[in-house]
Amino acid sequence: METATLLKSLNIMSVRDLHLQNKRVLVRADFNVPLDDQGVIGDDSRIRATLPTIDFIRKAEARLILCSHLGRPKGKKGPKYSLEPVARRLAELLDCEVMVPDDCIGDAAIHLIANQRPGQIVLLENLRYHDGEEANSEDFARKLADLCDVYICDAFGCVHRAHASVSALPKMVPVRGAGLLLEKELEVLGKLMSSPEAPYVALLGGAKVSDKIEVIESLLPLVHGLVIGGAMAYTFLTAQGFDMGKSLVEKDHLGLAKHLLGRCDEKGLPVLLPVDHIVVKEIKADAPFTIKKNGELEPDDIAVDIGPETIKLFENLLAGTHPSLPQPPRTVLWNGPMGIFEMDAFANGTMAVAQAVAHSTAYSVVGGGDSVAAVQKAGVTPMIRHISTGGGASLEYLSGLPMPGVQALRGGRR
Ligand code: 3PG
Repeated sequence: METATLLKSLNIMSVRDLHLQNKRVLVRADFNVPLDDQGVIGDDSRIRATLPTIDFIRKAEARLILCSHLGRPKGKKGPKYSLEPVARRLAELLDCEVMVPDDCIGDAAIHLIANQRPGQIVLLENLRYHDGEEANSEDFARKLADLCDVYICDAFGCVHRAHASVSALPKMVPVRGAGLLLEKELEVLGKLMSSPEAPYVALLGGAKVSDKIEVIESLLPLVHGLVIGGAMAYTFLTAQGFDMGKSLVEKDHLGLAKHLLGRCDEKGLPVLLPVDHIVVKEIKADAPFTIKKNGELEPDDIAVDIGPETIKLFENLLAGTHPSLPQPPRTVLWNGPMGIFEMDAFANGTMAVAQAVAHSTAYSVVGGGDSVAAVQKAGVTPMIRHISTGGGASLEYLSGLPMPGVQALRGGRR
């Protein structure tokens, strides 16, 4: 579905539909970026992903006000959570002045916005300095609403949160709509939900089955192959009767894992689980490791990555040379690492999957903070067709769960 048609079907305006000239336009962005102790941004891709919307609004000669949360300061102010480093990065990228009042509401913000000159950008301080943000407080939202004439949501990473700046606030601003990044995310992920090109293969990893239950359920009718790696695979393998030693297994979810495997079986859906593992006795970067197949693990073994045979198996599926899927997939979704990839010694599986997804001829979509970081670490970011800026949000969207930040945009006017 075309983006414009998609938004229309949701009864949501696009930023492109709105009259913006000389208006105070508040953009809720997701600038929740990783920062080190010196305030250096580890990955600015969320900032860069918002630039098309920022450019569009600036070209329309509007007065641009940006807002975001950063981290989880739990209602307390602190330099660790300040958006100042984001303002500096934005100023570099846009070559313009970005002013940050020390609070997102109140006199300083009101004054700065009232005196904003053409070309200047105001970035409000961390919304989560106020408890009202996470509490979806109407009072707090009203104070933000008073700062603007138009509200744009471009914070895909937060639309699954019923927080004031994405839920209560938009409903108070009649002229509201979706930014270009949000449009793109909804378009790509919406297509994966409604009409993905077949064959469609989903690769899921990460620590816990319990985090992925809804997404697996919702993928079952859509996919032609399911690949499961990472620690969540150990729960599935245990459910199949393999002893995974001291590996991370969710013992209280074995029944669920069995049930999901049973459903795949009924549907004739191929599920690829690891057949071998990188195994250690202790999780530390320089721990000596061995490669063991399913059934070979000892009681004190800990699996930390997929092994070489598994890598080959997963690569074959993506290349269309695996007997269960004798043609290359045309759509691939990847969410979640294959092992403890933060430690270089156990990153091979995740790096190999990143390469295989990048080199696949399919339309590839990668979501989830860890998988996105893995794609960057593997140096294949430009080869992925869509990298979602939302970790939790992309999973919840693909699970078909309600998105408060999308719902709240409906019914806006020009
Ligand atoms: C994210 O990083 O996934 C979003 O910015 C949401 O952040 P949160 O999980 O702290 O709500």
